[in-house]
Amino acid sequence: MKPLRIGLAGLGTVGVGVIKLLRAHAEELSARGGRPVEVVAVSARSRDRDRGISLDGLRWHDDPVSLAQDTEIDVAVELIGGSEGPARLMVEAALGRGIPVVTANKALVALHGSALARLAADNNTTLLFEAAVAGGIPAIKLVREGLAAERLDRVGGILNGTCNYILTEMRTSGRDFSDVLAEAQEKGYAEAEPSTDVDGWDAAHKLAILAGIAFNPIRFESLPVEGIRNVTAADLRFATELGYRIKLLGLARQHEGKALEAWVRPCMVPVVAPIAGVEGVFNAVTTSGPFSGPITISGRGAGEGPTASAVVADLIDLARGASLPVWGVGAVSDAVECGSLADVE
Ligand code: HSE
Repeated sequence: MKPLRIGLAGLGTVGVGVIKLLRAHAEELSARGGRPVEVVAVSARSRDRDRGISLDGLRWHDDPVSLAQDTEIDVAVELIGGSEGPARLMVEAALGRGIPVVTANKALVALHGSALARLAADNNTTLLFEAAVAGGIPAIKLVREGLAAERLDRVGGILNGTCNYILTEMRTSGRDFSDVLAEAQEKGYAEAEPSTDVDGWDAAHKLAILAGIAFNPIRFESLPVEGIRNVTAADLRFATELGYRIKLLGLARQHEGKALEAWVRPCMVPVVAPIAGVEGVFNAVTTSGPFSGPITISGRGAGEGPTASAVVADLIDLARGASLPVWGVGAVSDAVECGSLADVE
């Protein structure tokens, strides 16, 4: 059977993880996809860096756009990151010539998902991004495939592991935000520049994507976003006394006949709610609909293994010949903020 030939741009932790996983599980993946899935070409900033894997036999492209134009690939995988620059140019180049793209790039999809969906549709191809939301949790597949029959009224969850880790540590140790953040940075759990995580933007990217799949694309700039900088150890203590946990949630809710409600902010969650028990770096995705009822799944939202697993799952879909729509069908709309803080089951 003819292999599915992959061109992969970005050989950081996730890119290397994808190559390792494709090699380690080659036989099962070939059986599950109906044909072998093979990386044949790569692009990264440095050719010579020791990454602990062999790149022998792979075509090298200095420029990711030239990788996207390689006529000997069937799929382009974008693991460069960033909503502009080489990542966006590469994805546009591949979709523009009718090559499907798999990406883990949440910012790119959250900000440009609608334009990229149009470009994909115009060129009879698709853009898959399971790895962009909650790493190893099959969040997109849950909403798009598992709940394909549903008219959801809620989607969202704990979408940032760094914030969940910090809030968990603050609660269990009684220390303040700045203390725990500094320690998390020392241990490498939090970035040296933590704003994308702790100010809620990373969670907002993921929420915008989930809402785009479940409902309509939302204009990212309209999303109300608040992070966890102002949560104090005392807030967490009082919440515990009242029978709640404080979680940074991203949630989109569709109320009958109303505008889409969506926001990211710290919330009081009753301790009996499944999502309240999701602690540390774990993420959780929660949905609710009239037929399916409430669903919550949790798991690792980042890291080499979970993210590579999600990227390769998309590649298997493409090997099987799946033709999945990129995005919700409606026009792009604004999110509105409303709702009470403590009503998340
Ligand atoms: N920095 C993110 C998190 C992972 O802490 O969840 C990548 O989105």
